[in-house]
Amino acid sequence: MAMRKLQITAAAVALLLFFSSTSDAQIFDVTKYGAKADGKSNIDKTLMSVWKLACASTSPSKIVIPKGTFLLGEVKIQGPCKAPVEIQVQGTVKAPADPSSFKTDGWLTFNYIDKFTLSGGGVFDGQGKIAWEQNDCHNNTNCKRTPVNLRFNFITNAWVHDITTLDSKNFHVNVLGCKNFTFLRFTVTAPEDSRNTDGIHIGRSDGIYITNSTIGTGDDCISLGDGSRQVHVTGVKCGPGHGISVGSLGKYQAEEPVSGFWVKNCTLTNTQNGVRVKTWPASYPGSVSDLHFEDITMVKVGYPIVIDQVYCPWNLCKPDIPSLVKINNVSFKNIRGSSSTAVAVKLVCSSKVPCKDVVVGDINLTYDGPEAPTAYSQCSNVVPSFQGKQSPRVCA
Ligand SMILES: *[C@@H]1O[C@H](CO)[C@@H](O)[C@H](O)[C@H]1NC(C)=O
Ligand SMILES: *[C@@H]1O[C@H](CO)[C@@H](O)[C@H](O)[C@H]1NC(C)=O
Ligand SMILES: *[C@@H]1O[C@H](CO)[C@@H](O)[C@H](O)[C@H]1NC(C)=O
Ligand SMILES: *[C@@H]1O[C@H](CO)[C@@H](O)[C@H](O)[C@H]1NC(C)=O
Ligand SMILES: *[C@@H]1O[C@H](CO)[C@@H](O)[C@H](O)[C@H]1NC(C)=O
Ligand SMILES: *[C@@H]1O[C@H](CO)[C@@H](O)[C@H](O)[C@H]1NC(C)=O
Repeated sequence: MAMRKLQITAAAVALLLFFSSTSDAQIFDVTKYGAKADGKSNIDKTLMSVWKLACASTSPSKIVIPKGTFLLGEVKIQGPCKAPVEIQVQGTVKAPADPSSFKTDGWLTFNYIDKFTLSGGGVFDGQGKIAWEQNDCHNNTNCKRTPVNLRFNFITNAWVHDITTLDSKNFHVNVLGCKNFTFLRFTVTAPEDSRNTDGIHIGRSDGIYITNSTIGTGDDCISLGDGSRQVHVTGVKCGPGHGISVGSLGKYQAEEPVSGFWVKNCTLTNTQNGVRVKTWPASYPGSVSDLHFEDITMVKVGYPIVIDQVYCPWNLCKPDIPSLVKINNVSFKNIRGSSSTAVAVKLVCSSKVPCKDVVVGDINLTYDGPEAPTAYSQCSNVVPSFQGKQSPRVCA
């Protein structure tokens, strides 16, 4: 009898230990450590000290920024940590509006963390208005680099969900050197005329998922830099903005290949471009392969389907010298809706390294604009293969 009781007690203790080490994460509420939700008191020091505690915890932990408005300056959230850490933001975290108060080009920078979660339904407000007004990067090559709202560097097995990034001074999110990283129900919001406010920029990363998310901003909704591999974008609404882009590539020496990009079930509304690959003329060599765009709705999109290998935004390049970035294995399937210019499909490849294995499936794009021309396509240095029906006819 005593033996049996002991066994039951041991089982109960084991169960208790199991629960305390797995589901009951240690919780660190920043307001219990001195943070004030008054929108004026800077919470940098509190967040950093709480992060140290959470990151050193040998069991999973959770940092909570509750409802309310908090002012946060430039911070670096540094791993590695001893166990998974989650930061749950329920309130609004605001950046200082004045860009000159930043020393680096990041507001919140997350470095070297494995098993990281950012969640909570909260908002990161970059208060970018002053920075956009001061931005002169379009005509000043020495322009000051303003901070990105969220930088994720070398983060693995991460999950960012139910988070909004608002009015970043520069890109909203930059993903570098990450692996197995998911954005779910992620929202990016900035005005159409805010300069350089790309939604999510990815580079040198492998296995990035962006799902059921809404991105409206003043530059690319999603952009892939060199070394992006296996990127999956599904159920994303983009607009306003410049569209979903690969590149621009070829400007720098030794860029890593871009390979594996799946964009599926997305809607682009009032964007300058739809899905686009852009490489500079007179470029360094590079490679882009395995891009698949499928089930995409375009609503009044400027240029819905674009490969542009003479990308030269401010006419500061040598358009007569071909790009050396090789593009191969690209498909566009079931893409429908309206174009706000008559150029519904533009496949302008390099004369030196023509595009290879381009597949065009069902396309139904109509011109929705003031004048009468019907939609058409513009092609060079590419011979696509076709499946299904195309309207307008492509490269005919
Ligand atoms: C840069 O462009 C802005 C307008 O966008 C203009 O006001 C400014 O004078 C230009 N600066 C130079 C150095 O050209
Ligand atoms: C990717 O990360 C998620 C979230 O941490 C994790 O649940 C999943 O097991 C990881 N997948 C792989 C293949 O490691
Ligand atoms: C995305 O949304 C669709 C439709 O609501 C849902 O079926 C799907 O499970 C969602 N994806 C994820 C990863 O939650
Ligand atoms: C496509 O994405 C939308 C969200 O933009 C979602 O509501 C819908 O369920 C998705 N459809 C499929 C088939 O996943
Ligand atoms: C194109 O890419 C897909 C997906 O990565 C791959 O399965 C397929 O084999 C590739 N085709 C060619 C011709 O390289
Ligand atoms: C293309 O779309 C238009 C409306 O957007 C529709 O009227 C037309 O039937 C479609 N054509 C095909 C071939 O699906």
